[in-house]
Amino acid sequence: MEILRSLDAMREWRASLAPDQHVGFAPTMGNLHAGHIQLINAVKQQGNVVASIFVNPMQFGGNEDLDAYPRTLEADLAKLEAAGTAAVFTPTTTDIYPDGVSQHTAVDVPGLTDVLCGASRPGHFRGVTTVVSKLLGIVRPHVAAFGAKDLQQVLVIKKMVRDLSINTEIEVVPTVREPDGLAMSSRNGYLSRDERALAPLFSRTLEETAKRVAESGSDIGTVIAEGKVILSNSGFVVDYLEARHTYDLSEASSLNQETAIFGAAFLGTTRLIDNRIV
Ligand code: PAJ
Repeated sequence: MEILRSLDAMREWRASLAPDQHVGFAPTMGNLHAGHIQLINAVKQQGNVVASIFVNPMQFGGNEDLDAYPRTLEADLAKLEAAGTAAVFTPTTTDIYPDGVSQHTAVDVPGLTDVLCGASRPGHFRGVTTVVSKLLGIVRPHVAAFGAKDLQQVLVIKKMVRDLSINTEIEVVPTVREPDGLAMSSRNGYLSRDERALAPLFSRTLEETAKRVAESGSDIGTVIAEGKVILSNSGFVVDYLEARHTYDLSEASSLNQETAIFGAAFLGTTRLIDNRIV
């Protein structure tokens, strides 16, 4: 496995591949778990897989966990190697933002980023789309994998790729969960023992809400309100719990289009997100 620690090293490796060699790509912020490895597996079949590890400052708000974000490079490299990754791109912040984050050209996807995590984390998706457009331009993969756990991120990236005519196919990988149902996340490591014991109730409530919405059909508002009460009464601070159509994130008042329950909630200072298709 090649470890490419600079933009130049990455570009050189990419240029060394024959034009007919297939390249798959899995962008990450590191602290890898089985969910990330599932992305590697999803795009490995066809040829070389590149992973990137870059904790992207542009997608963190001023009051968020950029400094505390877990950095576990050696363990991550071992996992990627075991998964059969061909190359890992670990750029420096100066490689990605040579003039600093605030002076960098940004990519903005309108509409889809106004709601859910976009509403709660202003500027977050601007950071995601800016870095992902750069990474796709540098790595030039045929296919790039993203996790359904971050369903809004998937929709935003698909729109960006379409709008900017980027020549990469986006593959969506199903959410990998712990045995108790909690969606795997680098942020789960922040949870105390008691919080970790409570956390699966979040995914269970989303699952239950999705089931009840499917059964009741018309009474979406009531079912959602009840889901929020269950979470608040158990110690979660709910950021949002909403039923939205998956093709454009419009609010779902009926189930005439594919609908998902989207949730974000704090347990202590840790923010959990998840979603369930109805
Ligand atoms: P990160 O949170 O490290 O996640 C990297 C990729 O792994 C994303 O596509 C995410 O959806 C996927 N992923 C995370 N947990 C998963 C799980 N339990 N099951 C399946 N896939 C999972 O998302 C980011 O980083 C960043 O925003 C990034 C796209 C790298 C841009 O900086």
